[in-house]
Amino acid sequence: MEIDQIQNIKNQAISRILEAKAEKELEELQVEYLGRKGGITNLLKEIPKIKPEKRAEFGKLLNEIKQAIEETINNQKSKIQSASWRTKSKTEKEWFDVTIPGEKPPLGHLHLITYTIREITKIFEKIGFTRVRYPEVEWDWYPFEGLNMPKNHPARDEWETFFIEGLKHPKYGIGVLTPHTSSGQLREMEVCKPPIRMLNIAKCYRRQSDASHAPMFYQFEGLVIDKGINICHLKGTLDYFAKQYFGPERKTRIRPFHFQFTEPSFEFDVTCIVCGGKGKLANGEKCKVCKEGWMELGGSGMVHPVVLKNGGIDPKKYTGFAWGWGVERLFMMKYGIDDIRLLFSGDLRFLEQF
Ligand code: DAH
Repeated sequence: MEIDQIQNIKNQAISRILEAKAEKELEELQVEYLGRKGGITNLLKEIPKIKPEKRAEFGKLLNEIKQAIEETINNQKSKIQSASWRTKSKTEKEWFDVTIPGEKPPLGHLHLITYTIREITKIFEKIGFTRVRYPEVEWDWYPFEGLNMPKNHPARDEWETFFIEGLKHPKYGIGVLTPHTSSGQLREMEVCKPPIRMLNIAKCYRRQSDASHAPMFYQFEGLVIDKGINICHLKGTLDYFAKQYFGPERKTRIRPFHFQFTEPSFEFDVTCIVCGGKGKLANGEKCKVCKEGWMELGGSGMVHPVVLKNGGIDPKKYTGFAWGWGVERLFMMKYGIDDIRLLFSGDLRFLEQF
């Protein structure tokens, strides 16, 4: 056995392996060279016959060749496999075990304001109100002038309004971001004849920002106009709402107040959910959430005859009541939240508690 002869066998084996195109061909070459009766195996068997001084050299060489052939076969096998993977169809490649239990994606929920708006809507829909939406960018007439607040009237100061520079309507005045949903009252009267049962829920804007006020917030405005509507209807409707939203044990009251667009006007209060209307906690301490057992929900009143007239409705035939309350405020009162900014911060640690 000559060294050259052995090298030739190796070179031939390696070039045949590198030319192989299928795994089956490789298996056959493996048998041919390394199998029990394979070429290299036979040569290894010859070693005892070699002269003792040359045996080690031959043995080492043959083992190196054996290893080189094995390695080349394995490399070629991976090459063939990955080439066949690339030519496989998409469905074959994307196969997966459908019986493995899936991973549950984390479930979110509606934003608390959206949720509250839907809750309010549902409560009023049950007694015949229809939810509407009117423009957030308004003409002065709708939130002010038409609501009995003439230009330069000091009552306007209450609504810290954003005015839109350069926007002016020849008849309805300058452009504003509506500071309250009461602007929807005249809009509703323009498009609907009585009986009216409107629920206008929309964004409002005021130049204000602290723990209980945000520059953008939501209000829900109710308007009822029909023949013979009186304060009892106002009290009954809003009492029904307070009991539905806060719980049947709540009591309500109306207090005299002043608004330009209602006469008479009221503030509407509900008994405190923390102290149960007692004004004191069980340990005798003063309740920090309310004023002597009452929490203020917001303004309400009987629609002013001037407003009805401005809306094209005869105040001698029809009367009505209205209210306009804050959506965020309502939610905060129910859950005892003391900073409105939490509702707009997008902080999941807060939002996920509900
Ligand atoms: N629009 C008033 C505000 O934002 C609230 C209000 C008071 C609305 C009395 C009404 C009402 O409809 O009758 O402060």
